[in-house]
Amino acid sequence: MKGLILCGGRGTRLRPFTYAGAKHFLPVANKPVVYYIIEALKRAGIEDIYVVVGEREKEFRLKLGDGDKWCVSIEYIRQHSPLGLAHAVMSAEGRLRGETFVTVLGDNLIMHSIRDLVEHHIATGAQSTILLSPVEDPRRFGMATLKGRRITGLVEKPERPAGNNAIVGMYVLSSIIFDAIKKIKPSARGELELTDAIMEMIREGYLVGYKVTGEWWSDVGRPEDLLAANQRILKGIKGITEGSIISNSIVGEKVMVEKGALVKNSVIEDFVVIGEKAVVKGAHIGPYTSIGDGSSVTDTNIKNSIIMKNCVLEGMHRGLDMSIIGEGSIITESMGKETTSMWIGRDSIIKGQ
Ligand code: G1P
Repeated sequence: MKGLILCGGRGTRLRPFTYAGAKHFLPVANKPVVYYIIEALKRAGIEDIYVVVGEREKEFRLKLGDGDKWCVSIEYIRQHSPLGLAHAVMSAEGRLRGETFVTVLGDNLIMHSIRDLVEHHIATGAQSTILLSPVEDPRRFGMATLKGRRITGLVEKPERPAGNNAIVGMYVLSSIIFDAIKKIKPSARGELELTDAIMEMIREGYLVGYKVTGEWWSDVGRPEDLLAANQRILKGIKGITEGSIISNSIVGEKVMVEKGALVKNSVIEDFVVIGEKAVVKGAHIGPYTSIGDGSSVTDTNIKNSIIMKNCVLEGMHRGLDMSIIGEGSIITESMGKETTSMWIGRDSIIKGQ
């Protein structure tokens, strides 16, 4: 089976971070979101991966290359405008016609095993199988109605949801989907919806099955989702020290200090990752914080935050909470009297007095 990752979207809800790069490379526990998906496909034995890309094609080619890093093969398919998920799938027809393939939305972090979904798909003999999950806010998702082992209805972001089974961004699709996509029209939001194309398959009598997952997943579409995902993934990290911890530092058990990193005179609480070659001095970090590779944090308190690569933070004693600091940003001296929460994009500079 082959894999298809849809990464064509613009990520406008994740501005300012997406002005400088694709949302799929934003770090969760210091690892880009799309890496989790490639690793999950690889774990399921799927090594032929197609990535549908939009205007950020160059960035994808540069960062993912030909997939060698994961021992998989990655090929790119250009989606010329972001006209919806079904349009993105359609752009892969030339490569995937005649195949059954696993499609994953490139901004979704999904803990459910892909292998399990594929095995379920094969065992039921369905023409497509969709991963579903109960959600708190059905109006934000595609929602399914079920009867026995079948999906009988699918509605994208319903005003009045029936039931509580949301479409998680992972689908096993057969080639029939390409014919179904050709029959649908753009939705009210002007997109060709994958949900509508699968509904077309259902209408034509094909068996569309499902699996309900109890595992955690997240559609990392907004900054607050990125922070929540960071917390969730950091909660599961193991304590590993590959860097140096010196001068009376106190470090929790669930802390990763990566290669070449230095922690000096600092307190590091649990659920923290300190990236390669990062330097942390006189700081109080955590819980739930990732410090990107090459960043330097001095005399600063940070919790529940994402500090991307190569940042310099100095003298923020009052501290940062629920913050996202874009790559290469510099913040010196504390601002205001209270702990600050800020979301600032790449290469920003903030100087206090
Ligand atoms: C898309 C799908 C929707 C699904 C959701 C999961 O929505 O259209 O059916 O529930 O992903 O993340 P979008 O994120 O494009 O609004």
